[in-house]
Amino acid sequence: MNSLKWWQTAVFYQIYPRSFADGNGDGIGDFKGIVEKLDYLADLGVDALWLSPHFPSPNWDCGYDISDYCNVAPEYGTLDDFKLFLDESHKRNIRVILDLVLNHTSDEHAWFVESKSSRDNPKADWYVWMDTPPNNWQSCFDGEAWTYVPERDQYYYHYFMKQQPDLNWHNPKVKEAMWDAVRFWLDLGVDGYRLDAIGTIYEDPNLTPHEVPMTMAELRRYSDLASTPEEKELRDKYFYDMFKNQWAQGGLHELMKELRAITDSYDGDRMLVGEDDNIDYMGNGEDELHLVFNFPLMKTERITPEHIHKNQAERLKQLESLHLGNKWPCNTLGNHDCSRIHTRYGDKLHDAELARLHAALVLTMKGTPFLYNGEEIGMTDYMLTDISQVKDTMGSWYYHTIVTEMGVHPEEAMTRTAEMTRDKNRTPMQWSKQPNAGFSPENIATWLPVNSNYADGINVKDQIQSPYSLLNYYKHLLKVRKSTPALIHGEYIPVHSTAKDYFAFLRVTEKQKILVILNFSSERLELDFSNIKDINSQTLQTLFSSADASQKERSTKALTINPFEVFIAEVKPAHA
Ligand code: NOJ
Repeated sequence: MNSLKWWQTAVFYQIYPRSFADGNGDGIGDFKGIVEKLDYLADLGVDALWLSPHFPSPNWDCGYDISDYCNVAPEYGTLDDFKLFLDESHKRNIRVILDLVLNHTSDEHAWFVESKSSRDNPKADWYVWMDTPPNNWQSCFDGEAWTYVPERDQYYYHYFMKQQPDLNWHNPKVKEAMWDAVRFWLDLGVDGYRLDAIGTIYEDPNLTPHEVPMTMAELRRYSDLASTPEEKELRDKYFYDMFKNQWAQGGLHELMKELRAITDSYDGDRMLVGEDDNIDYMGNGEDELHLVFNFPLMKTERITPEHIHKNQAERLKQLESLHLGNKWPCNTLGNHDCSRIHTRYGDKLHDAELARLHAALVLTMKGTPFLYNGEEIGMTDYMLTDISQVKDTMGSWYYHTIVTEMGVHPEEAMTRTAEMTRDKNRTPMQWSKQPNAGFSPENIATWLPVNSNYADGINVKDQIQSPYSLLNYYKHLLKVRKSTPALIHGEYIPVHSTAKDYFAFLRVTEKQKILVILNFSSERLELDFSNIKDINSQTLQTLFSSADASQKERSTKALTINPFEVFIAEVKPAHA
């Protein structure tokens, strides 16, 4: 156990700063607010925070368009407020990792402002410039990937929005400047970084065009309307083909190694987690990223036992292929870019039960779990109804494009936009049943509307007081995880892996054997584990049950599992 690093044993919690806690009452989250909530986070039982971008930004992409890498967005506070936040987190034994956006800056960043000013300024070559658009590449957010600048009579490349020009990572000066920014925060004591969109850093040097017979807008529209399995398959193929020359190109491993060497030069096991599911970015296990996300787990319309078994088998096998020590998985089901777990994986009949199963899954599988703020109280997607409310520029671009260029009726366009925009999963955290969910004072317009379901118990305060709330369920599970070594560092052994209704597995260390059963069905199950090698006729000592924890011991042979039950037990020799 002691040989594991902190980032292997920790449970991470993602804070989306704009929406987490509003300390100064202006409708936007800030550091004052976060600091006030640190006791809540400590009490919840998380060990580390991933902070989405907190840097100055014109917010075309909600902070992922950074205009100064070494400062704090004024709406969030000052650098001193950040230092206080870091210090107060550390005092509570909570680590902090930041978001590192390497691929692009804001078009308002001083580097770009200088670069675009002429063809021969000192930063002329810091971004990717061409005399004419060399191909049909698309931006994944807003149309063409090449945007014209009159000052240079040239075009610059942007994988994301036009306000997010791609840096030219072939230029050593770019690296130097970005590594300085990386050191700036490491010097202040941050514990690591989540690396944004690393796959997009380099492009195909031959600038090979894509061959998809659509533009990005058309493809998004096609995707909206795709309903048959064939159409969905074609949609996925088109998305892949459209961007394959703009993704995962040579040079990334060398770059990740350089970054790793920087973090390794600091004490305290600073860590890097990549926003990518490719295990290759973990290098040999010791020389690139510490973790990459197991995104394939969440890339499904439904979390089923079959899907999880398949995912685990593939994922753990891939990790085993790493040459050196670190083969550590990293699991998550939600973040600021996708529909909330509660909505996305619910079935509208058993959403509450399913949310409990999904939480248990992430917290008991082998690997480091990442939770997204609000999921612990069951926050749901919030559908915006008017285009003026949309803050995610990718959403408003889509709306206007399909209305003006494709003639889609504004009402339908709004429905589609509400579904595709990431605003739906970024609404303010619901702290209480006070007006504005206690996020901001009454009568203050919050930056995105507050989901009205805060008044129906989906808020922290009510749930703290209710012993059976989702929040208390998370707290309880986090405690069980912390006090059960095998759930943290035990090997994963699937059992009954062909079962369709439930997902069962063991987590095993030399000293402890834990059986986890997640019943994904509305049926009561009668299960027999007595012929499983590691279990036989031993007994099961209940550590956690979402249905009936009063039954301290259960039999391995005739084990009743209630509908949607989460059952965690220690396998122990039967009393003589
Ligand atoms: C991935 C981030 O998670 C997303 O929110 C952002 O829009 C893009 N990268 C661009 O930075």
